[in-house]
Amino acid sequence: MSSYDFLIIGGECLLTDSSGKLKREKTNIGVKNGQIHALGLASTAPAKEVLDATNLTVLPGVIDSQVHFREPGLTHKEDLYSGTLSALHGGVTTIFEMPNTSPNTSSQFRLDEKLHLAQSKAKTHYAFFVGATNDNSDQLQQIAQTPGCCGVKIFMGSSTGDLLVSEDYFLDKVLKKVRVPISVHCEDEKSLIERKHIAIHGAHASYHHKWRNVESAFRATKRIVELAEKYKKSVHVLHISSAEEMAYLKNKKHIVTVECLPQYLTLSAPECYELYGNYAQMNPPIRESWHQEALWKAINDGTVDALGSDHAPHTRNEKDKAYPRSPSGLTGVQTLVPIMLNHVAQKKLSLEKLTQLISENPARIFSTKNKGKIALGYDADFTVVDLKKTKTISNSWIRSRVGWTVYDGMKVQGWPIMTILKGKIAMREETVFSHVHGEAVQFIRD
Ligand code: DOR
Repeated sequence: MSSYDFLIIGGECLLTDSSGKLKREKTNIGVKNGQIHALGLASTAPAKEVLDATNLTVLPGVIDSQVHFREPGLTHKEDLYSGTLSALHGGVTTIFEMPNTSPNTSSQFRLDEKLHLAQSKAKTHYAFFVGATNDNSDQLQQIAQTPGCCGVKIFMGSSTGDLLVSEDYFLDKVLKKVRVPISVHCEDEKSLIERKHIAIHGAHASYHHKWRNVESAFRATKRIVELAEKYKKSVHVLHISSAEEMAYLKNKKHIVTVECLPQYLTLSAPECYELYGNYAQMNPPIRESWHQEALWKAINDGTVDALGSDHAPHTRNEKDKAYPRSPSGLTGVQTLVPIMLNHVAQKKLSLEKLTQLISENPARIFSTKNKGKIALGYDADFTVVDLKKTKTISNSWIRSRVGWTVYDGMKVQGWPIMTILKGKIAMREETVFSHVHGEAVQFIRD
């Protein structure tokens, strides 16, 4: 009888069966060398460590495919340690980090620098995006083939930092040359510039979604989808926030994958701006409740493929600047799982659907090797949750360096209990085990 390094018994698991379908089943999981070696109630061989997960639910490790940590350059807000520590507390096993650091991650040197830093600092598994610029389209494909790079990011409209590819000529070049996954921030730069006076005259965060309106976002979304069709390259459109874009994207699933955010599914205008002011300011903005209803529909009809947190920390001092000088972005990597489990408890979506959105589909979209499923041969990354546990989210629980969440004081049902990386418990009920580290994610590329 072979023995396991790690054995999980008694938990309800979100398994992928041989036909590729997700099912909830009580089973045991035997782990050897960091991978799932055996599944089934008969798997009870001796193990070096046994975890009794009775009354708990075991999900494939959650992949947050959109976070902004701030290293290098802006580590007073976050670094790779504090950001991944926050992820670990929130039940996230893997993060894909955005390139709008300072300097930008838009060269081989800068990507290598991040990968090197992460080796000693990352508490979760990690990968990094390389940012497209007007000047680097000739090198992008090669840089993006670097192990640990999850793909290319394009900002079509200015947001935090100065990464921007807004003109057709340069967008065309990127789409033509790049063959790895391309993720896109869709807001139209020209419209944002023309309409900025709305934010300046309004002088309150409640004008944010009026400045960065639906039309500005939709225009960019259409442009990138048309380019994708022209070059027959699929694109991943990030943080889609409006009913109009979802209706359009529903008929473009042959060429796009779509991301939505918990913020859009939980908060709505104008209340969020009245309650939280600049702390609800983000790009693209949180919109009115009729958009939120359409986003929920798009979650449940299959238009939306993935949920990322868009974790984008800024200090309180920065957020407290007068709008619109206040920076855009909310923390979120730690609250992704509890906020979405609460939506499961409220029957807004099924646990199977959530598992697809935060684990299985991000793994598929970015072609990760051996992640996103509880199946034989896959990495033993697990997010262990208690679906019944009620808890109140608080600023004091947040491990992000900036120490705040817009959900402070919100009572939720469903909570991450353990974060397990390659068969090692990295976080258990707020205790972090210092000997467990993350590794660079591997991707299947041509
Ligand atoms: O609100 C946002 N904040 N949207 C982005 O696209 C960037 C992010 C940040 O890095 O602060």
